[in-house]
Amino acid sequence: MSTVITTSPLTDRVAIVTGASSGIGEATAFRLAGLGAKVAVAARRADNLEAVAARITAAGGTALPLPLDVTDRAAVNAAAQQVADRLGSVDLVFNNAGVQLISPIEDVRFEDWQRQIDLNITGVMNVIGAFVPQLIASAARGKPADLITTSSIAATRVLEKFSVYSGTKAYISQLTRLLRVELGRKMVRVSTIEPGMVDTELPDHVTDPDPDATRLMADLINDIDVLTAADVAETVAFIASVPRHVNLTEITILPTQQAV
Ligand SMILES: NC(=O)c1ccc[n+]([C@@H]2O[C@H](COP(=O)([O-])OP(=O)(O)OC[C@H]3O[C@@H](n4cnc5c(N)ncnc54)[C@H](OP(=O)(O)O)[C@@H]3O)[C@@H](O)[C@H]2O)c1
Repeated sequence: MSTVITTSPLTDRVAIVTGASSGIGEATAFRLAGLGAKVAVAARRADNLEAVAARITAAGGTALPLPLDVTDRAAVNAAAQQVADRLGSVDLVFNNAGVQLISPIEDVRFEDWQRQIDLNITGVMNVIGAFVPQLIASAARGKPADLITTSSIAATRVLEKFSVYSGTKAYISQLTRLLRVELGRKMVRVSTIEPGMVDTELPDHVTDPDPDATRLMADLINDIDVLTAADVAETVAFIASVPRHVNLTEITILPTQQAV
């Protein structure tokens, strides 16, 4: 007689997911909750977060909506306290909120450059600053502890018009390599995920009206079988589920047909 073995590898884990109101963050929040984690979901769109939390709760999970702007350091710090009070000390941070506003450099779209720097760098640092103490405390109590950040394949590839976005993602990839030196010895795992083209709302935010600006992404979506947010969510869940002494450090995940 065969038996079906079911596991919930993230039972007892407390997670925060930023950028959880859509795309990769939403799918990952749902997947982490499905594997047993209690999940705080953060982003600006409160209605979307309420819907994500309701979906998790309806499926038997635990979710806490946290409407906030991650570029607001005080709000992120307050949220860290709120999660600790409501769900317990965080041991899994998915630092994922980001924006991609590609344009030719000679268009000098200062506002777009600043928005990417504010969110993809300052926002990411605000989340690290607010939650690293909880990760260290969780690890010190013998729990697995994960800081997982969403970079991009753009961090390492040379893609025309992606300069500022790629620069912010290269910052994340290098930052996390350095964080491993300090946090690894405290048993906090630091992982970076570098996806290729994922079918989400990300290209919709581009402000450059020239369709050429988004041609690469549009072509990929039209021509190949791109990744789904669920594909990335599964990878994040796997990173968090391996034994505590194993750190999956830098994961590139591409659609099979994506070469660049
Ligand atoms: N899609 C791809 O092909 C791809 C490839 C590589 C890497 N990535 C990275 O994946 C991450 C997630 O993007 P996605 O593809 O899932 O796109 P998405 O659906 O646009 O998700 C972006 C998320 O970030 C949130 N966000 C934006 N500004 C915020 C702010 N100031 N404060 C808090 N949250 C904010 C958005 O929610 P609100 O608007 O509600 O705040 C949304 O939940 C990003 O870091 C992106 O750079 C995506």
